[in-house]
Amino acid sequence: MSLKKYLILATLCIWTLPALCGVQKPRVTIVATGGTIAGTASSATGTSYDPAQLTVDALMAQAPGISARATITGLQLCNIASQHMTTQIWIRLGSVIDSLFKNDICDGVVVTHGTDTMEETAFFLDLVLGHDNPVVLTGAMRPANALGADGPVNLFNAVCLAAHPAARNRGVMAVMNDYIYAAAEFTKVHTVNPDAFASPDRGPLGVIRGGNPHFFRGPAGRLRTQLTCNTKELQELSDKLRDKAFPRVEIILSYAGATAGLIDALLKNGMDGIVIAGVGHGNYSQEIETGIQRCLEQGVFVVRATRVLAGGVTFDVEKPFDGQIVSGMLSPQKARILLMLALTRFNTTEQLQKIFNR
Ligand code: DGL
Repeated sequence: MSLKKYLILATLCIWTLPALCGVQKPRVTIVATGGTIAGTASSATGTSYDPAQLTVDALMAQAPGISARATITGLQLCNIASQHMTTQIWIRLGSVIDSLFKNDICDGVVVTHGTDTMEETAFFLDLVLGHDNPVVLTGAMRPANALGADGPVNLFNAVCLAAHPAARNRGVMAVMNDYIYAAAEFTKVHTVNPDAFASPDRGPLGVIRGGNPHFFRGPAGRLRTQLTCNTKELQELSDKLRDKAFPRVEIILSYAGATAGLIDALLKNGMDGIVIAGVGHGNYSQEIETGIQRCLEQGVFVVRATRVLAGGVTFDVEKPFDGQIVSGMLSPQKARILLMLALTRFNTTEQLQKIFNR
């Protein structure tokens, strides 16, 4: 047999052997929600574009390599720019993913998403989902038809990670620009650059090279398991939202000369919790401090966070202030999500602080 015929036969065996042995490719469902990855621009080199134009089938067609890595199915949950993301969509997304895993429809899920609130959706899902299956969010900083569009490679990387056994039991992750991030740790740090994300405190979980994940540290796993929801509990969250019984939590930014005007307006509006995005190590103006006192007197929970990207707020703050919940390493926007969900189950500062401490 000539070398050429031998090589052809060997190649055929390599590709057909898994099927012959009944070894199936991992099954990955891509749940699309919109964002720039689905955006289109009038010019490949222009800067303006419309996000959330393409559907999941078009996104899959733009990353042909994904079908070699997994058996792919696509699901269009919504098609929005992610600055318009809502808690109701989060609950629907969580319910769909829960159902996909509970009914063994797939082994891993990729969520395509706008980058503006990707970190929030990832953290919400990390809190409510209790499965070890990989859930990986990804997006793009350039629209699909831009010169140098980053969506296809981000989608390919996300599918490869969601299909990989090493991605199990690591909690919800995100993949952008070849980096792997943990849901609780990453944040958007650049408004337009393709390298738009970072984990300021701990760095990325790992990198993806040639479709293979390389982790820098052990399985992150899920830190806060007290808030995972089964299907019934996700439906109860949805009912609470519909009946306007879902906890209301807003964020107040502190800065030089900040007044308590917004805090008092929120108190008038009926608030369940307020997150203070303080300056430095969770500090704030004198006026904000008196506003916080009024919150506590009215039974409104207060989380002390910081607008600073790294370091978080821990107990060794300059001026401990009784009655507040300390945010730890969570950004204000993630502390808000955690407080909202925790308030559906707990109602004392001590219980809530225990959730934040993990
Ligand atoms: N409107 C922004 C969003 O959907 C576009 C940013 C992006 O997706 O990269 O988050």
